Amino acid sequence: MTLSIIAIVVSYLLGSVSFSLLIGKWLRGIDIRQHGSGNAGATNTLRVLGKGPAIGVLLLDAVKGIIAVLIGRWLGDDSWVMVLCGIAAIAGHNWPIYFRFRGGKGIATTIGVLAILAFWPALCAGVLAIASIVWKRYVSLGSLIFTTMTPVFLLLFRYDWSIFWGSLLLCAFAFYRHRGNIVKLVKGTENRLGSKKGGMP
Ligand code: G3P
Repeated sequence: MTLSIIAIVVSYLLGSVSFSLLIGKWLRGIDIRQHGSGNAGATNTLRVLGKGPAIGVLLLDAVKGIIAVLIGRWLGDDSWVMVLCGIAAIAGHNWPIYFRFRGGKGIATTIGVLAILAFWPALCAGVLAIASIVWKRYVSLGSLIFTTMTPVFLLLFRYDWSIFWGSLLLCAFAFYRHRGNIVKLVKGTENRLGSKKGGMP
């Protein structure tokens, strides 16, 4: 029990390491939250700093989700502990203790967490999400499709209930963090991938 709690706390602290904020500071001396969409994530890094830094942020933010689940496996060795470690890492990314609790929307870290917990359902949901991004060029819409469809595929693939309930919570996190994007999608004012709007001058 104590080890499981330690694993969850360590996962939250790891998730709180926000790579878009660090890379924005290192490369340009900026706070990414004051540019573009204001989000501390890979999509806004692409908008503000370009492809290379964005790929770095996407991978590093995903890797911290992977590591959190592996910590859970190592210290707790129970599917609920692994799920809670993944959730804690995403909560850390969204509400980071090191950055005044103003973080990102958690999608890259969710990808990392689900890649370990539920590879095939996440892959199927990811294919649908990427198809929607290629078609409509809205990363936010793709993110919401990914987090909505993963629980559906988890049911179809008959995964463990702990992972299913965890993925529903992650879906709720994603909708909550994307509430501004949802309003813009409905109004037709959401940023499209590749549009220069909001980048660095
Ligand atoms: O993962 C974040 C993405 O879905 C939306 O990012 O910067 O367009 O709000 P952004």
